[in-house]
Amino acid sequence: MAAQHLLDNGQGVIDPDTYFEIQTPPPNLAQDEAKVRDFVKYNLAKNNRLVLVTSGGTQVPLENQTVRFIDNFSAGTRGATSAEYFLEYGYAVIFMHRQHSLQPYSRNYTHSTNCFLDYLELKPDDSMGVSQAIGPKLIPTFKKYQSVKQRNMLLFVEFTTLTDYLFLLRSITLIMAPMKSKAMYYLAAAVSDFFIPAPKMAEHKIQSSEGALTLHLDQVPKFLKPLVSQWASESFIVSFKASHASYITCPSGTHLFAQLETDSRLLVPKARAALTRYGHQIVIGNMLTTRKRDVTLITKEDDVEIHLTDQELRDEVEIEERIVKELYKRHGMFISTGKSCAVDG
Ligand code: PMT
Repeated sequence: MAAQHLLDNGQGVIDPDTYFEIQTPPPNLAQDEAKVRDFVKYNLAKNNRLVLVTSGGTQVPLENQTVRFIDNFSAGTRGATSAEYFLEYGYAVIFMHRQHSLQPYSRNYTHSTNCFLDYLELKPDDSMGVSQAIGPKLIPTFKKYQSVKQRNMLLFVEFTTLTDYLFLLRSITLIMAPMKSKAMYYLAAAVSDFFIPAPKMAEHKIQSSEGALTLHLDQVPKFLKPLVSQWASESFIVSFKASHASYITCPSGTHLFAQLETDSRLLVPKARAALTRYGHQIVIGNMLTTRKRDVTLITKEDDVEIHLTDQELRDEVEIEERIVKELYKRHGMFISTGKSCAVDG
């Protein structure tokens, strides 16, 4: 079988082109491409800056008729919150997100412990309205949301699996290519490093009657490489480096999840190594446990730490506001000089 042959090259990791040959594209790909094409055309004509924000975790199925899957952790907070600040800075935003993860503007309401019915109240005339407790807070958010929608500044694209994510990432990036330096990629999604290639995957539910299950997962090729060097070589690319759960192999041969890179001192050197390896503009290092108050922006020229104080956290300042402010300046320099530069003040 041709596909099987592609996997049996003894190299351990397949290349990105082979990945797209052996995996099946998502069924909505053509429709998503068409709406992204219209959105890019519109914003290109308006000379807007455009950012692709990826957000949420990718899912890796264990069976073709999927019952079980492995998931990467991400609520989508970083992506959804950042998207709102990019819009405030005048960017058009393609928000490519994991289905049911947090979305800009609705993020403070959809995943709360309150039921949506708690936001409503019955009026004396039996009509229904937004409750007094929530209404005044909701109005500014609602106005912003309406405004970005009316001005065609925000486009939503959904993914669930790793394969959906990678096909969409390639397509959207290639469609955005004419934006050149005006395009930014803000890759906040938590992307799986391991998967089961379609030709090796069980068709139906793996049977528990066959006893204990040992999984072998292949490595996912690093898609940042073709993204930086081919698909979006003239654009401004920001990737994230997180401490996250990874596989370790025990002497017994069993695989366990473990928390690696929990030492923050390892994060900056690792992020810098990623920058050197792929040659893009910025890596943002963050630890899962402190990601809402501390991040480090790593560029070829400098490291910039962004830290929120306890008082700022109490005042509900969001770290994404500071991240986007810094990126806006640096992207501006990139647009005017064609180079990423250290920025003063
Ligand atoms: O949504 P929240 O709950 O707020 O969480 C936000 C976050 C912690 C998930 C986010 O801030 C973050 O750090 N996202 C990136 C996590 C991640 O995938 O890190 P990584 O080390 O696996 O990948 C680093 C980069 O390589 C990523 O930008 C990814 O786009 C890229 N990558 C990853 C895997 C792969 N096969 N190919 C890639 O190109």
